[in-house]
Amino acid sequence: MKYSKNKLFIEKVSVLNIANKFQTPAYCYSYSKLKENINNFKKNFKSFSPLVCFSVKSNTNVNIIKEIKRFGLGADVVSKGELMLALKAGVDPNKIVFSGVGKTNEEINFAIEKKILLINAESKSEIREIDKIAKRKRKIVQVGIRLNPNTDAKTLKQISTGKSENKFGVNSKTFYELVNYCKNSKNISLQCLSVHIGSQILDYKPYERMLKAVSNIIIKTKHKFKFVDLGGGMGISYSDKIKKLNYKKYNLAIKNFLKIHDTKIIFEPGRSIIGNTGTLVSKIIYIKDGGAKKFIILDAAMNDLMRPALYGAVHKILPVNKSNSVSTNAYEFVGPICESTDKFVTLKKFQKLKEKDLVAICDVGAYGMSLSSNYNLRPKAVELLINGRKVKKIKNRQKHTDLI
Ligand code: LLP
Repeated sequence: MKYSKNKLFIEKVSVLNIANKFQTPAYCYSYSKLKENINNFKKNFKSFSPLVCFSVKSNTNVNIIKEIKRFGLGADVVSKGELMLALKAGVDPNKIVFSGVGKTNEEINFAIEKKILLINAESKSEIREIDKIAKRKRKIVQVGIRLNPNTDAKTLKQISTGKSENKFGVNSKTFYELVNYCKNSKNISLQCLSVHIGSQILDYKPYERMLKAVSNIIIKTKHKFKFVDLGGGMGISYSDKIKKLNYKKYNLAIKNFLKIHDTKIIFEPGRSIIGNTGTLVSKIIYIKDGGAKKFIILDAAMNDLMRPALYGAVHKILPVNKSNSVSTNAYEFVGPICESTDKFVTLKKFQKLKEKDLVAICDVGAYGMSLSSNYNLRPKAVELLINGRKVKKIKNRQKHTDLI
């Protein structure tokens, strides 16, 4: 996004024109950013050409998945719905991995039918369930076991997954038991060790520790893992102050790991592929005087973008028409929903705003629309893909009649 003559543009399209044509709130994605992110991701790890499975939970728009698939990426899914979506987008089943602590019998059956690359199991019970279903179907199912490496990802507690207190994966003791279980099963082929220690990780050191733990465990099992799935979690810069993840160091740690282990690396990135491609365009409905601050009441709310309310996440907000005026009051950007947590951010310094002005909430491509809801019976926003001068509607705005 950039300004031209004080007007905000996404690629070559003015945000004002988008709002006039498609109304607000509107989720807009930049195609060139998406392409750049995918190319950079591949470049960062090109020496060992990993299989990159886009984490569908971060963005569930079928047209976005179709675009991502065109770059050769697979998919990481966590429900039957996401698996159906990935298949509908044309993702090769042989590039789909299925994670999650509570896969139902129906979901396992479906995944086996669709012959996906891996079902990454997260408990003893799940392995037994897969075995039972596979036996009944007289099939050999390729599985992974998700290890909980008890590694602190040094990220928000709500999005950490790799510590022993988290529900994800199995500890090393159970891991060894499950390796033996799989060896004795005629219907399970153990191909993968998977891990994912958390999301929005900006320090490479937790990844180093995770690799060390994985390496030790593989050596002890003496099992030949065809794949090691390192999950996703690579963080992005939501503000100019945030330092970037050192991909060089992470890449180096993996290269060292591969000197000892002959295996194919899988990644499951979500945020690092789609996060900074998305912008939520919103209009100011009212400005309300709150004494020391002013409430900027937007037409976008926590149902459209849940991250601030759920994790205290801060997204940059930009004016769509830039001016040199400065407000003397602090601005609190809020939505119309009947919850005090329906608040995006409070800014002490911002240009003067007036009712009906437009603003752009940045970096909402990951866990923006996919976490949205119909709370307060609010229809979900329209989604647009912008490529150069072209704007393609990739999801209609919901209508009230869809909801009632
Ligand atoms: N693989 C597994 C097994 C995961 O659980 C996740 C994310 C990913 C891959 C993708 O992680 P990423 O590369 O996007 O960090 N709603 C939160 C994030 C929750 C992440 C859940 N798991 C947020 O808005 O920050």
